[in-house]
Amino acid sequence: MAVGPAWWLGLLFLVSVWGFSSPASLLRRLREHIQQFQESPGLGLSLSPEAVALPKERWLEQPLDPFNASDGRSFLQRYWVNDQYWASQNGPVFLHLGGEGSLGPGSVMRGHPAALAPAWGALVIGLEHRFYGLSIPPGGLDMAQLRFLSSRHALADVVSARLAFSHLFNVSSSSPWVCFGGSYAGSLAAWARLKFPHLIFASVASSAPVRAVLDFSEYNEVGAGAGAGAEKPQEPSLLTPPFRQQVVSRSLRSTAIGGSRECLAATSAAFAEVERRLRAGGAARAALRVELGACGSLDAVEDHAELLGALQALVGGAVQYDGQAGAPLSVRRLCGLLLKAGGNCSRPEPYHGLRRAAQVSTSARRPEERAPWGSCATCAVGHVTCEVPRCPFSQLPALPSHLELCEQVFGLSTSSVAQAVAQTNSYYGGQTPGATQVLFVNGDTDPWHVLSVTGNLGPSESTILIPSGSHCLDMAPEKPSDSPSLHQGRQVRKKKFL
Ligand SMILES: *[C@@H]1O[C@H](CO)[C@@H](O)[C@H](O)[C@H]1NC(C)=O
Ligand SMILES: *[C@@H]1O[C@H](CO)[C@@H](O)[C@H](O)[C@H]1NC(C)=O
Ligand SMILES: *[C@@H]1O[C@H](CO)[C@@H](O)[C@H](O)[C@H]1NC(C)=O
Repeated sequence: MAVGPAWWLGLLFLVSVWGFSSPASLLRRLREHIQQFQESPGLGLSLSPEAVALPKERWLEQPLDPFNASDGRSFLQRYWVNDQYWASQNGPVFLHLGGEGSLGPGSVMRGHPAALAPAWGALVIGLEHRFYGLSIPPGGLDMAQLRFLSSRHALADVVSARLAFSHLFNVSSSSPWVCFGGSYAGSLAAWARLKFPHLIFASVASSAPVRAVLDFSEYNEVGAGAGAGAEKPQEPSLLTPPFRQQVVSRSLRSTAIGGSRECLAATSAAFAEVERRLRAGGAARAALRVELGACGSLDAVEDHAELLGALQALVGGAVQYDGQAGAPLSVRRLCGLLLKAGGNCSRPEPYHGLRRAAQVSTSARRPEERAPWGSCATCAVGHVTCEVPRCPFSQLPALPSHLELCEQVFGLSTSSVAQAVAQTNSYYGGQTPGATQVLFVNGDTDPWHVLSVTGNLGPSESTILIPSGSHCLDMAPEKPSDSPSLHQGRQVRKKKFL
């Protein structure tokens, strides 16, 4: 339990805020409260993780199949608790949801839920996603078990954890529970509020790709631009790339984050060179294999797609995690490498720049360098493809080989994957989920924002789009080097919602 300023701030907010049930009055009072908090000196929003002992991991027994009462199997789900700011049993609970990666004690010590906790006198709990980290059911990742891995199962875990924690920590029945998450876990946070509004008071969904797609070519597209009729929502078939936005390409051109037109052109040139060597075969292809550190032969067409996909992910990753701690490459650094003049002449050698970028990225790939908020490492929704004319990367088709993998490894046909995508959108509502009290936060540099909610849908489904913000950036701890727009986005969020 907390002592000191957080305690009375918590108390202040208890008596002044939660007594009011109308959301409008609530939001207004929250805003006032945060303003007061902002103005009081000496209360930093960021936590220094070194200053306090890290919480230990705890375990919650969960049903493996929550939808079948006669299936008695269970697994242990890992979680962490930070109660140092918890002002009273009536205080709010911030539930930080894990996504497709392991979670750690940082989930309750750093990032937004922890940073907001002192002002709110909140209990912070971080819950690892089933089948990730150490929350793996007995029997492991056996194919027969993987049918218990879905967003619906994850939400069932959230519900039973919410009820179990209430009991375990003697949380008052009037305490509001607020879910936080980034990326896929951001979608889970939004859906938890959407499907269980009686249990979850509100959610903050950062970079949440709530619309499922089979073919996510928008990730890479240079874009038809506004006004080209591109936004026409004419329900394209799942395999037709919808011409909408321009994310990776636009970011590579964005001078605000170190990109330029030259950088985009260099990216295209580098990929064209890789493709040329792949097609040339023989010595050129063998040299390519060595230079890019490919682990196998590059003879099969699938290998070409695999290599190009990996290189594309490298560039996409630089954009997606631009400027974040633990990200091996920023857009600025990548562009620097791509545009660096070669040894002999003054002309840039984009292919060699791409090669160096691959080396930098490979040598940086150590587990401890992962983003501290755990759940934002990769995104599981949508295959990233490059089959539109404006894509800067290779145009060799990638989607068929992904779908082939789904078929070969998981026995899922293309039509069943497409059906699952459509079902996901009808179950959760895609980009118009209709959930109240959900704050969608996105960065417009982030390729995934086109699948999130960025337009205001109504008074209680708020959105913030942070200019030049990358993927899940707002979930990261605040730091002095944060861009003014990110800082402003955080302030808006505090005022708007929390
Ligand atoms: C429910 O669990 C029981 C016991 O394990 C099993 O026999 C049954 O097939 C399951 N039902 C479904 C629909 O999975
Ligand atoms: C739980 O909290 C209530 C007050 O909210 C208190 O009266 C009760 O004694 C607490 N129970 C336990 C087991 O701590
Ligand atoms: C520089 O050019 C010479 C001759 O064209 C070539 O042999 C040499 O490998 C080049 N050096 C570098 C670093 O590219």
